Amino acid sequence: MDRKTVVITGAGRGLGKAIAYIFAKNNYNVVINYNKSEKEAQKLKNELEKNFNISCLTVKCDVTKENEVKDMVDKIILKFPKIDCLVNNAGIAMDNFIENKSLDEFKKVLDVNLLGPFLTIKYIGKIMYKNKKGSIINIASNNGLDECYPSSLDYDASKAALINMTKNLAKYYVPYVRVNAVAPGWIDTNMCQNDEVDVEKIALKRIGKPEEIAEVVYFLASDKASYVNGEIIRVDGGIL
Ligand SMILES: NC(=O)c1ccc[n+]([C@@H]2O[C@H](COP(=O)([O-])OP(=O)(O)OC[C@H]3O[C@@H](n4cnc5c(N)ncnc54)[C@H](OP(=O)(O)O)[C@@H]3O)[C@@H](O)[C@H]2O)c1
Repeated sequence: MDRKTVVITGAGRGLGKAIAYIFAKNNYNVVINYNKSEKEAQKLKNELEKNFNISCLTVKCDVTKENEVKDMVDKIILKFPKIDCLVNNAGIAMDNFIENKSLDEFKKVLDVNLLGPFLTIKYIGKIMYKNKKGSIINIASNNGLDECYPSSLDYDASKAALINMTKNLAKYYVPYVRVNAVAPGWIDTNMCQNDEVDVEKIALKRIGKPEEIAEVVYFLASDKASYVNGEIIRVDGGIL
């Protein structure tokens, strides 16, 4: 059987890296998208190819730029003509209360967290639809459901919109492409390294590990989730 291919945005570090590992371990070829973390992406490619005997492609692309996304997809198709799974993981947070938040900051957060997935899905969704098979997984956040904070106004709005876009596109690519989202809570990556996390508010009394998100992403990509579409899976340890 042909080996499947996954495209993961922002895969050089953090959650994206853990997601890359689980797909490689399950015999996928992995496209490692990065924007700034070139060294980390190259190192990850070497590790995955050596440990799992699969093939990787690293592609630099700022997901907010349509021409770069288009070029990235062209490069991917040259090496891996069939894309089975897209994980929209790239995301940023620029916390600040509304009075101190500039319009540029607000736009930047929406650009990466919402317009980035719009662009990657625009160019990859149609390839999957043509192949009559595919799975798209958006990394949202429980901030986009109900766990919102005044300091992350733009982030929370971007994730709420991403959740809405997930449900919307899950209706568009039927019956071939499933579109789902994972909504993590506090996860141990650079993104929340400066946040003061109140673990007493988390039923499991700890923050999550990137691997615990990766497991759920992989489940959604797999045939075990063949009847799951337009779903948002919360993975936050239970917020009290
Ligand atoms: N950590 C948490 O507690 C948590 C909770 C809920 C949801 N999430 C979501 O999980 C996802 C991953 O976050 P993380 O925790 O792993 O954060 P992170 O460690 O800060 O990593 C962010 C990733 O996004 C990539 N990225 C940022 N801007 C980009 C752009 N313009 N184009 C391409 N890639 C870009 C970065 O790539 P480069 O380094 O190459 O620029 C990096 O790989 C995000 O969508 C985040 O919102 C995280």
